[in-house]
Amino acid sequence: MRTFGEILIGWYEVNKRDLPWRETKDPYKIWISEIILQQTRVAQGYDYYVRFIERFPDCKTLAEADEDEVLKYWQGLGYYSRARYLHEASRSVCERGGFPVTYEEIRALKGIGDYTASAICSFAYDMPIAVVDGNVCRVISRWAGIEEPIDTVEGRKIISVLAEELLVKSDPARYNQAIMDFGALQCVPSSPRCDVCPLLETCAAYRKKLVKFLPKKRHKPNITHRYFIYFYVRSGEYTFMKKRTDKDIWRNLYECPLIEQGRDISEEELFALPEFRQLFDDAHVKSFCLVEKQVKHVLSHQVIHADMYEVVIDECSGFGGSFLRIPETDLHKFSVSRLISHFFSLLLKSDN
Ligand code: ADE
Repeated sequence: MRTFGEILIGWYEVNKRDLPWRETKDPYKIWISEIILQQTRVAQGYDYYVRFIERFPDCKTLAEADEDEVLKYWQGLGYYSRARYLHEASRSVCERGGFPVTYEEIRALKGIGDYTASAICSFAYDMPIAVVDGNVCRVISRWAGIEEPIDTVEGRKIISVLAEELLVKSDPARYNQAIMDFGALQCVPSSPRCDVCPLLETCAAYRKKLVKFLPKKRHKPNITHRYFIYFYVRSGEYTFMKKRTDKDIWRNLYECPLIEQGRDISEEELFALPEFRQLFDDAHVKSFCLVEKQVKHVLSHQVIHADMYEVVIDECSGFGGSFLRIPETDLHKFSVSRLISHFFSLLLKSDN
C-alpha cells in the first residue's frame, strides 16, 4: 500500500501549480516568496513576487534600496512589517557575507519564524524538515482525525510530531510543496472535494464524519473595531500627507490627515472635536464633502471603519504643520495603504 506521502506526491505531480518560486533553489528568492505568501493568497502574491524579484533580483540589491521604495513594491499587499523586516534582514545577510545555511541562523533573521525557516531549509537546501502552515495543519488534523484544538500548545505539538513522521525524508522539498498544494486546492476549509480525494480510504475525519468540524480551534481572535476619519485636503494642485509612525498598523506608509475615534460619530460630533478644530483652525475651508462613509477594511485582528472627506481649502490659508505638501501629480510616488489608495481612486474618478 502506498504511504500518505507517496499518495500526496502522486497527486501533486498531476495537480501542481506552476509557480516561479518552485523553479529555483536560490534561498533569497524562496525567502521572498514565502514572506509574500504569508497572509496572502497565491493568486494575489504571484505578480508581487515577479515584480519584486525583477527590481530586487538578489539580496545586495534589496539591501542597497531605500525603505520607501521597498514599501512601494509592497503597496496593496498589507502587513507592511513583512517588507520592513525583509529589508532589514537583507542588510544582515549582506553584512554576514551570504545567505545562512543552517536552520538556526535562518530562523534568527528578522521576520523569519519557524514556518519560513523550515520552508527555506527544505525548498532551497533539501533539508528533511516538515513545513507546517495552516494548509498543512488542516490536512494532517483531518487525515489523522486530531480533535485537539490546533491553536493550543498541546494541539500544535501533536500536529508537528505527526508532520515530522509523515515527511518523505528522501524528497522533502517536493513532499512539502505537495502537502501545501493539497491543502490549498483539494482539502480546502469548507466543502472539500472528498469524493475525488486520493486519501479518502485512510482519512480518519472522513470515516468519523468529522471533516466539517476539523481542524478545531479553541480561541476566537479578539477583533477590535476602529473608526478612522480621513481628510483629503485640496489646496490648489496640492494635497497633504504624512508618514504614519504609530506602531500598530501601516507603519512608515503615507496617509492623509486622520482623526481616530472609538465609534462611528456624526458630522456634528466631528465638527465639535478638539482634534478637528486643531487640524483646520488656520485653514479657510471652501468646501467640505463626504466622499465615502464607513468603508470596512478587515485586518487579521482589527476592522477599520473609515470615512473619507474631501476638503477644499483656500490656497493662501494655513494648513500643514507636520504634513508634507504634495503635488497631486506626485501622489503615485508614495506608498500608501490599500484603504488610502481606494480613496484616491474614488477622488480621481470624481475628477473626470
Ligand atoms: N504558500 C506558502 N508557501 C507556498 C509555496 N511555496 N507554494 C504555494 N503556496 C504557498
